[in-house]
Amino acid sequence: MADGIKPLFDGFSKLNREQRFARLIEMGALTHDDVKFLKTSAGLKPDLAENLIENVIGYHQMPLGVATNFNIDGKDVVIPMAVEETSIIAAASKTAKWIRKSGEITTETNGNLIIGQIQIRQVNDYENFKTQIEKNKHFLIESSNTEVAFGLVKRGGGVIDIEVRKVSRADGKDMAVVHILADPCDAMGANILNQVCEFLKEPIENLTNEKVGLCILSNLNDRKLTRARILIKNIDPELGFNIQEASYFAEQDPYRAATNNKGVLNGMDSVLLATGNDWRAVEAGVHAYAARDGQYRSISKWRMKGKHLEGTLEAPVIVGIVGGVTKLHPSAQMCLRMLNVESANELSKIVAAVGLVQNLGAINALTTVGIVEGHMRLHIANLTISAGAKEKEIPLVQKRLEEILALRKRITLSNAIDILKELRDKEFGKKKSQKEQAI
Ligand code: MEV
Repeated sequence: MADGIKPLFDGFSKLNREQRFARLIEMGALTHDDVKFLKTSAGLKPDLAENLIENVIGYHQMPLGVATNFNIDGKDVVIPMAVEETSIIAAASKTAKWIRKSGEITTETNGNLIIGQIQIRQVNDYENFKTQIEKNKHFLIESSNTEVAFGLVKRGGGVIDIEVRKVSRADGKDMAVVHILADPCDAMGANILNQVCEFLKEPIENLTNEKVGLCILSNLNDRKLTRARILIKNIDPELGFNIQEASYFAEQDPYRAATNNKGVLNGMDSVLLATGNDWRAVEAGVHAYAARDGQYRSISKWRMKGKHLEGTLEAPVIVGIVGGVTKLHPSAQMCLRMLNVESANELSKIVAAVGLVQNLGAINALTTVGIVEGHMRLHIANLTISAGAKEKEIPLVQKRLEEILALRKRITLSNAIDILKELRDKEFGKKKSQKEQAI
């Protein structure tokens, strides 16, 4: 329960890596074998990559961290996040701590169907086409389930329904689009649904005398939505209203909405990547859903409800916990174990919750200290390394960058390069004069 595990999250960010491992073992988030794997994971075998993509030359590695303090639907959870951007994990952990103390995160899913599309490029007789598909719907569903989606049927899913839509072409003629609605159970479902759509091409052409064009799933999955809600009780009213104002901005202005949603996806993508899920599919779905009424809007919404702040997010977050990379990649497997999820829906709800928490963290910073301050500590470290500082030089360069930041409120890579040059010149001068004195 929340209170039982709370001390285990305390001070997590101050621990060194060995202590973090020990703490995560204590929490039950990692096993000793996981830790052994993490310590040697640079050595993933190229054979695995050969099974995933073409023209393999190796791995591109990403930092993997954990966000702490999350309590989602009353359950404590350690969130694995694979991400290269400074501050994302720190902001998520800090915001989750605030919510843990002052409110709650709840989630739900709505619907369980994914959508595959079969296109009739230029339909000769739309009404007849629709009638034929509807008359033969049972046959089309049954044959898809027996010939292709039998594995899903065994697990309680499969093709469930078929619908027909008319879409106008640019030349004023009509396209017909058949939607295949399937329950993918705990898979993301793309592969199987694409197979079903391609399988149905021939029967549909035979039944309707129309020519099929594309057969492919849709990433705008509005039949399987995930919702997250955050409540902050008795929030400082000024902060609450400022967050609400930031939300109005993102709801109405597509330029701000894009950045707001990027902040949400900072959280979502990191979990998707860590768990081996197709983050491009979720990105596409989130952006398309954000523009569902014709204008691109924020995917999250924040409102004051009396003394409390309520945040909501609704989006298609289609993920899997079986099949593909989720099954094959050892660190994706470990991250799924860490999350302790038993279904794709559970993972989808965690992803949505992390997205909304990340969004709150960003707009809380934007409406108070600004985003730069939070980024700076690690940014200073990045700049120092990018400038080429050696181990012994790092603390000196960092100290000097901190001084410049305090003075000018800004630092850049050229500051770091200049500091390093100054430092080395000074060191060189010192050594030269020591040598001269010795002579
Ligand atoms: C930066 O990665 C994300 C933010 O720009 C999100 C936002 O503006 O809401 C901070």
